[in-house]
Amino acid sequence: MHKKRVFSGVQPTGNLHLGNYLGAIKNFVDLQNKFECVYCIVDLHAITNKQDPKELKSNLFETAASFVASGLDPEKNIIFNQASVPAHSELAWIFNCVARIGWMNRMTQFKEKAGVNKENASVGLLVYPNLMAADILIYKATHVPVGEDQKQHLELTRDIAKKFNNDFKCDDFFPIVEPLIPKTISRVMSLRDGKKKMSKSESSDQSRINLKDNKDLIEQKIKKAKTDNNPIPSEIDGLKNRHEATNLISIYASINNLEVSKVLKEFGGKNFSTFKSNLSESIIEKICPIGIEINKLLKDKSYLNSILEKGVKKADLIAKNNLKDIYEIIGLTKFS
Ligand code: TYM
Repeated sequence: MHKKRVFSGVQPTGNLHLGNYLGAIKNFVDLQNKFECVYCIVDLHAITNKQDPKELKSNLFETAASFVASGLDPEKNIIFNQASVPAHSELAWIFNCVARIGWMNRMTQFKEKAGVNKENASVGLLVYPNLMAADILIYKATHVPVGEDQKQHLELTRDIAKKFNNDFKCDDFFPIVEPLIPKTISRVMSLRDGKKKMSKSESSDQSRINLKDNKDLIEQKIKKAKTDNNPIPSEIDGLKNRHEATNLISIYASINNLEVSKVLKEFGGKNFSTFKSNLSESIIEKICPIGIEINKLLKDKSYLNSILEKGVKKADLIAKNNLKDIYEIIGLTKFS
């Protein structure tokens, strides 16, 4: 039996959006009162794609500020950045030698991100899931809150843990992690296309709500959000093949902690313009205070620095200890 521990990571690649919030960070906040939680800003993952060094530096603080502004208590949780704890990279190398190339080639995120010119993608992008498995398993985390897009990577993490435990005959050394994926909305979709994920990399800013968007911008984006010509149904069956409608209804349900069926009962038969004003109101109420707090925190770099420094110390201690055991199991010698 492993001690219950939560781990999750977010890339510091620009403004966080409603997808990050409803898919992951909202869950991080709920979990902080139930488990020991480790939340990592995964800057080493970010450089699998080209990053501007200045922006990468400022995005680290932006992400830390977004965590705290969303309600993560730096006293309760370990908040830190991946590059400061070298054991992540060391274990990732070990996992490069445990995982099989065929496993990497099956990853849909690699296929999507590498695009048509696979040969030109960085090797880092290919072995990205091994670093992710290392992030989680270096803390022997048991639960990982993520959006649905990360599910396959967590299945791979389970496979790596099982293979390591089996190869080195150390039954139960690494836990088999449980993904925690939100039920109401596991994948927040673009406001312009209900079949595409809401994403930082989408060129149109109209496709997403950023945590730092102000009231007017949120109202305008929701007003323009794509819908269809039918009224809102009263039953879930009526949402079949209505991707944009499903997305907006699910966002409303998630942000208000309601079941989708309850939202349909309330708005069934009404048109989208009425619903959209309620949706804007809910998003504004939840997101605008976070955006204001992010901007406030960004003015206090020394506070953010102190959070990260404290987090790094705590994370490094756990990671170093576990790495020692892992080296011992493998038969690697580390002189110090
Ligand atoms: P990243 O930085 O792309 O996203 C951070 C978190 O936000 C979730 N997310 C979404 N959820 C619902 N709908 C969306 N449109 C949406 N967009 C993003 C993601 O699922 C994620 O939970 N590989 C990870 C970072 C990572 C990690 C880890 C996560 C590195 N190591 C270890 C968990 C455990 C990523 O790129 O997330």
